[in-house]
Amino acid sequence: MVLQEALSLPDFITRPRPPMLSVIVPTYNEAVNLASLINRLSQVLSGISWEVIFADDNSPDGTHQRAKDIARVDPRVRCLRRVGRRGLAGACIDGILSSSAPYVAVMDGDLQHDEEVLLRMLHTLEEGDADIVVGTRYRDGGSALGLAGHRSAISRFATLLTTSLLSVPVSDPMSGFFMVRRDRFEEVAPELSHDGFKILLDLLASARNLRVAEEPYLFRARERGESKFDLRASLEFLGLLAAKATGDFIEPRFVPYAFVGTLGLVVHFLVLKTALQAAGLSFEAAQSVATLVAMIANFFTNNVLTYKDLRIRGWRILKGMAIFCAIGATGFVANIGVAHWLYGGNHIWWMAGAAGALIGAVWNYAMSSRLVWRLR
Ligand code: GDD
Ligand code: MN
Repeated sequence: MVLQEALSLPDFITRPRPPMLSVIVPTYNEAVNLASLINRLSQVLSGISWEVIFADDNSPDGTHQRAKDIARVDPRVRCLRRVGRRGLAGACIDGILSSSAPYVAVMDGDLQHDEEVLLRMLHTLEEGDADIVVGTRYRDGGSALGLAGHRSAISRFATLLTTSLLSVPVSDPMSGFFMVRRDRFEEVAPELSHDGFKILLDLLASARNLRVAEEPYLFRARERGESKFDLRASLEFLGLLAAKATGDFIEPRFVPYAFVGTLGLVVHFLVLKTALQAAGLSFEAAQSVATLVAMIANFFTNNVLTYKDLRIRGWRILKGMAIFCAIGATGFVANIGVAHWLYGGNHIWWMAGAAGALIGAVWNYAMSSRLVWRLR
């Protein structure tokens, strides 16, 4: 310790204490909440050495600048600015992996999670009987009162669905609030999905044999800023569930893709009906128009929903759309072929129809993922 030698001080006086706990806070447009959060953390964690790491996805509201401004005067604050990618889970993973503390917590940046329980979580881990402590809203005095009416119903349904499909040993597998031993996290980190919201669920499903404890807390209402939980986040969640329930046989992205396909069917019938009744086209002409419109609609919906992270822009849209339609046409041929063959064998119309549609969907998905929206 050069500094201590130069000043001939006993080394405990100036030696900085490395953090015992890193609190990882994923942020997207949370600039208005940063200062209150840091303030609350420094109150409840005053007895231990800790740091907070904001994992920010280049928020347009300047959350990362604000965080770094504070970091310049408070060494307990760090900010990881991620550019060119979006995702709550990925931000948490990168944040945790940038820590060297023995314990890491993940907590929302909008003050909805109760910082008061952090110390209890830490003590539970330090006692050594658990690898992870999950903040729960659904047990022993925990509460999800802060969720808006319809979100509360969705959350309860999703929790029920998850606990019945997967064997996860927690009452609140959707929780975004937990503390984990970093060594155990590092073991599974390479297997975790970076998309979507459900990092905890992924962690519990990927790392078998984690010893889990729970800590009830009150989920508060968001006071400032907006929730980023949307249709895409819900579809991603269903995708993750499907993947984990089938031992990663189904790719998570297939779920939003199939959802868009179903919407396309609705578009198809609406256009077909209009073209036949209002425009008076022949059936063949109307069916062709409907097919084309539905395929183009599906292309654009997939571009902003299913493949938002790989979104095609500018003139490349034309090329992508052409390939997408060509894939759709060949998928259609495969669909009819399989259905025809099955129907010839067993004459069960609905089974032949469903199998044909499934083959078509899988083909379209597999080819679109490889030829249209490629990982660059
Ligand atoms: N870096 C980054 N990137 N952060 C994000 C992103 C993103 O794409 N999306 C959201 N966040 C941040 C928000 O800024 C906030 O700090 C935190 O993640 C939670 O996002 P909210 O948008 O506030 O989510 P919520 O309140 O609707 O959902 C919370 O409760 C759910 C339980 O119903 C989260 O904790 C979820 O994880 C949890 O499942
Ligand atoms: Mn929130």
